[in-house]
Amino acid sequence: MASATFLILVAAASLLASFAQADLQYGYYNTTCPGVEELVRTELEAIFADDSTLRAGLLRLHFHDCFVRGCDASLMLNSHNGTAEKHADPNLTVRGYEAIEAIKKVVEKACPLVVSCADIMAMAARDAVNFSAGPRYEVETGRRDGNVSMLEEALTNLPPADGNVTVLTQYFAVKNLTMKDMVVLSAAHTIGVTHCSSFSKRLYNFTGAGDQDPSLEPAYGKTLTTKCPTEKMASVVPMDDVTVDKFDLGYYESVYNHRAVLRSDAALVEDSLTGAYVALMNNASSLDIFFADFAVAMINMGRAGVLTGTQGEIRETCGVYVD
Ligand code: HEM
Repeated sequence: MASATFLILVAAASLLASFAQADLQYGYYNTTCPGVEELVRTELEAIFADDSTLRAGLLRLHFHDCFVRGCDASLMLNSHNGTAEKHADPNLTVRGYEAIEAIKKVVEKACPLVVSCADIMAMAARDAVNFSAGPRYEVETGRRDGNVSMLEEALTNLPPADGNVTVLTQYFAVKNLTMKDMVVLSAAHTIGVTHCSSFSKRLYNFTGAGDQDPSLEPAYGKTLTTKCPTEKMASVVPMDDVTVDKFDLGYYESVYNHRAVLRSDAALVEDSLTGAYVALMNNASSLDIFFADFAVAMINMGRAGVLTGTQGEIRETCGVYVD
C-alpha cells in the first residue's frame, strides 16, 4: 500500500515537472494556432521578394539568439542604455529584426499571445534555408520568450571569427552541440555576406608583420584585397562565391580549396575530423547527406537552453525595452 502511494506521488511529481518544463514538440501550435507555420512562410515569401538578402540575415539571427541564453528571443529585446545583446559588437551586423517583428504582428492578429517570438525566429530560419534552395525540415516548437538580455553575455557566448577548431568546438559544446554540428552549421555561410572588417587581418596583417594568411589561396587573396581595399572595410563580400546566396555545397568547395573568407571557416580544413567532413562534402553527390545533416544540426541548435512550459512569457511585441 505504502509503495502504491509512493508510486502515485512520483507519477504526480513527474507530471507536474513535465508541465513546468515541457519539451519542445513538432506541431506544438496545431490546436492553439493552426496554420501558423504557413502564415509565417507566406509573410516571409513577401519579405524575401522585397529583400532576398534577408534570408541570410534571418538564419544568422536565430543562431545568435540561440547561443546567448538559449533560443528565447532575447536578441530581439531593446535597451535604452545600449546594454542588450543586440548592442554587442558581433550583433551590430545582424539583420532581420524588423522582419520578425512584422511577422509577429500578423501572427498576433491570428492568435493573440499564443506564439512565441523565439518560435517565429526558428521557423523563419528554417524557411530562409528552404527559400534559398536548401532543405525543408520540420522544426520543433513550444519555446517561450525570455525577458533578460545582456550585452556581455553575447560577447562571451558567440564564437570568435578567428577561432580555430578547438576553440570553436568548445563554444558549441557549451550549447550541447558536437563538433559535427559545428562543421555542419558553419555551412550556413553558403549564403550571405561578411564585412571586409571581419577578416581584414587575414589579408593585411595576419601575424602582425603586414602579411597575408598563408592558408589563403594566393589568387583568391588577391581578389579579396581588390574587393576589400584598406579604406573600404565597410564593404561586404559573399562567403561562398561559388554559388552566391544559393544554399548548396559551394561553401565546402570554397573551404576545401582554401578560398574560405573567414578564418573560422578556413580552420575547418586544418583539423583531421572537420577536414574529413569538408572533403566528403566537396562532392556534388553529397548534397543529400549535407541537407539531412544540416536539418538535424539546426534542430539540435534550436533546443539550446530553451524556455518551455511555464517558464518565460509570450509577449505581444518581440522588441520591448528591458530598461
Ligand atoms: C562557427 C562559428 C561561426 C562564426 C565564427 C561566425 C562568424 C560570422 C561572421 C564574422 C559573419 C560576418 C559578419 C559581418 O561581417 O557582417 C557571419 C555571417 C553569417 N553567419 Fe556566421 N559564424 C559562425 C557560425 C554560424 C552559424 C552556426 C550560422 C547559422 C546556423 C551562421 C550564419 C551566418 C549567416 C547566414 C551569415 C551571413 C549574414 C548576412 O548576410 O547578413 N553562422 N558569421
